[in-house]
Parts: sequence; C-alpha cells; structure tokens
Amino acid sequence: MIRLAYGRMLQDGLDGEHGLPRAGLASLGARFAEVQAEVRRRRGAGEYGFYRLVDQTVTVREIKTFAEGLGQAHDHVLVLGIGGSALGTKALLNALRRPAWNELDDEGREFFPRLTVLENVDPTTVNAALGRIDPRRVLVNVISKSGGTAETMAQYLVVRAWLEEALGAAAYRHLVFTTDAERGALREIAAREGVATLSVPSEVGGRFSVLSPVGLLPAALVGIDIEALLAGARRAIDRAEADDLLKNPAALYAALHWAADTELGARVHVLMPYTDRLREFAEWYRQLWAESLGKQVDREGRTVNVGPTPVGAVGATDQHSQVQLFMEGPFDKAITFVAVDDLGEDTPIPERADLPPDLAYLPGHTLGGLLRAEYQATSAALAQRGRMSCTLHLPDLGAATLGEAIMFFQIATGYAGVWYGIDPFDQPGVELGKRLTYAAMGRPGFEVGEARTGDGDVI
Ligand code: PA5
Repeated sequence: MIRLAYGRMLQDGLDGEHGLPRAGLASLGARFAEVQAEVRRRRGAGEYGFYRLVDQTVTVREIKTFAEGLGQAHDHVLVLGIGGSALGTKALLNALRRPAWNELDDEGREFFPRLTVLENVDPTTVNAALGRIDPRRVLVNVISKSGGTAETMAQYLVVRAWLEEALGAAAYRHLVFTTDAERGALREIAAREGVATLSVPSEVGGRFSVLSPVGLLPAALVGIDIEALLAGARRAIDRAEADDLLKNPAALYAALHWAADTELGARVHVLMPYTDRLREFAEWYRQLWAESLGKQVDREGRTVNVGPTPVGAVGATDQHSQVQLFMEGPFDKAITFVAVDDLGEDTPIPERADLPPDLAYLPGHTLGGLLRAEYQATSAALAQRGRMSCTLHLPDLGAATLGEAIMFFQIATGYAGVWYGIDPFDQPGVELGKRLTYAAMGRPGFEVGEARTGDGDVI
C-alpha cells in the first residue's frame, strides 16, 4: 500500500516559519465534507468516469484474448497517439518493463514484442521509427478518443501508406484502433474497412484513460499484468472513500497542494521520483495536473485563471540540475518525492585497494542505498531551508503499486478540481490552437486571420 508522508508540508515539519500551519489541517478537514459530497454527487452523475475503470472484467478478458492472439503474431507494437492517448502507455512501459526494452533480444523481452510510441509529428522521429520497424511484423495501435486529432490522424495516414506499400490489401490486418464507441473518423474507417477496434468509455477523458483500453491494450501486449494494475487502482479508490481527510491520502494530497498554492503562493508543483523507472510517470502526471487544473473560468463561469504549474524531475539526476533552484529560489514550490522501498534489485559498490581516501565511504553500500540516502538528504535539506515537500512511499514497483499510484493521482486531480472550483475534465484552452492549426492547414470552415499567427517582432 502507498503511504503519503506530509509532515514537511507543515510549518512544524520545516523551519517553523514557512509551510502550512498545522491548525490549517483542521480547517481543511472541516471543509473536506463539502468537497467529498461534491465528488460523490458528480460521480453519481457520471462525471468522474475513471473511478469505474476498476470494474472492467469483460474488457480485460477481451484485451487479454486479443493480446494473446494478435499480439503473439507480431514482434513490434507501434502506438500512434498524443497527450492522454500516449503518455500513460509510456509511463507503464518505463515502469513495468526492463529499461531499454526495445534493445533487448527476444529472450530478454520474454518473447513479448517491442513497443514504440509515436506522439509527435516530427518527420525525423516518424521516419526513423518506420525505418527501424519491419512492417510485416508490426501491429499498429492507433489511439484517439475523438478519432480526429490532427497529429494522430496524420501519423495514421503516413503509417497506413507505409503498411500498404509493404503489405498491399492485407495492411488493415496490422491495425487496431482504440477510439470512441460510436463517434469520430477513426470509428468510421474501422466500420468501413473491418479494422479491429477497442472502445474508450465515453465518460473517461484522455488524460484519465491509461487504465482503460487506451493503456491496457499496449500494456497487455508487452506482458504487463493488467489485472494487477486494476487491483492496485481499486486500493486507491477504497482509501478515497474515507470521509476523514487525514485517512484519505489522495484527498489530503489535493487539499494540501491547493492550500500551498492559494494560501502560500506555492504554485509550482514538482514531482520528483527517485528512480529512472518513474521518469515517464512524472511526464504523465505533468499533463494530468496541468490540463486538468489550469483553467480560465470556474464552475460558475467567473474568470479565475487558476492552476498550479507541474514540473517533472528525477532523483538523484536532477539534484545536479534543478535542486539548487528548489533550495534557494523563490518560495513558490511544493515538491512531491516518490521513494520506492524495494527497487527489486540492487548493486553493491565494490571495494578497491587503490581507492583514494575521499572515496572510501562508497564501498560497502549499494547503488540503491545511495539513491535512498540522496532522497532522504535532499528532503531533509529542503525542510531545513523551509521548502515544502511530501513523499509518496511506494512499497515496490510492481503493476499493482503502479496502478494504485496512477489512481491516486487521478483521484487527487478530481479532488483538486473541487478545491479550485473548476472543471478538471475539460480543456477549452487547447481549442484555439487547434482551430488556428486547421486554418493554417487549409481545413474548410477554419479561416486564417482569426488571430495573428506570426511571431511578432524578430531580430
Ligand atoms: O487529456 C486529453 O483529453 C487530451 O490530452 C487528449 O488525450 C489528446 O488531445 C488526444 O486526444 P484524442 O485521444 O482524442 O486523440
């Protein structure tokens, strides 16, 4: 079970001057009754659809059958998607499969396929990927809830032509679409051409969809235990049923971060796992927190322009990059460390007879021990300087724990939406950029000149 250590968000856990007053916990706790009631009401109305993803027995069976059949016939899975249709899959692969998965031989990958996620439409990345992958051995999973996102659809057209060049009419057998059950261009193509499909539940938004077929199919294809992911996610939901704020970790996390932002100006929220295996998880969190909480208007339509700025970092690497700023820069940050109790493996630092005395302290320890010491030291040093932080302690990095961590952050985001008074499930701010892209690409009905798209002054 995940534990949340939050003492260093509070004044008495820091330098006595900075941080939230302990008495503030009681007032947050009192106000939480309203927050919990609103979340329950909105859940009942179908708004918080991601909670229901732990009950997908039929979908899980379908995905496993699919992965065991089609998956085994291919040695590379190519995912096309962007934003919420890509970041979760990357986080799962990074956390739950061996590092440099695609470089391992068949045995190293336990005979599961390689997995490449194409998010961007940078031609260099796309061409390099297609140059590396054998079209006869690839399964292409096109993921788009709307079925019409420009980047994903452009990738699809390029990849489809590439498949057809190699496979002719058999190309469609190498495709599977994950999209809305009824709407969108992708659904239309699938129906017309008999492409295999999986559905994204309509009540689950892109950035909350990693535990839907969006993330579960690619995960199952590379041998990740998707049932364990969902079992872990259920643990997070069970704990979020608590009405006492101090017994509800996701709710407490949201409340403390909202208070740190709105009462103390700590509007930069850093997620800093002490393991490379959660580097992509931090990227996933960044989108979840940013796109959900950064909003112009509140639920009543008033202009509020709120939202914390999420930042991803990785320990110990970023101790030599960003921590100087965290330690001595403005008091505008709250840092969340993620510490893993059991990394699953460790490496002793070996002795050497010829070691200079300055390095003699290292042998006898392990790399994992050093990583742990660095986390503890950084967290303590920040606290001495009055810098707020909390730590999510993960017992291990198995599928169940990761599922719990994913659901923890999704639930926390849902609670934070209520504290900020905004809708965490829409993204109207992305629309204008989309419209101007359509105009620039000559899509009928979208006029250039709707706004200035030039750079402005340039030297
Ligand atoms: O969270 C979101 O809703 C977005 O980030 C979407 O996932 C992203 O824009 C891709 O959308 P779609 O899956 O419709 O292609």
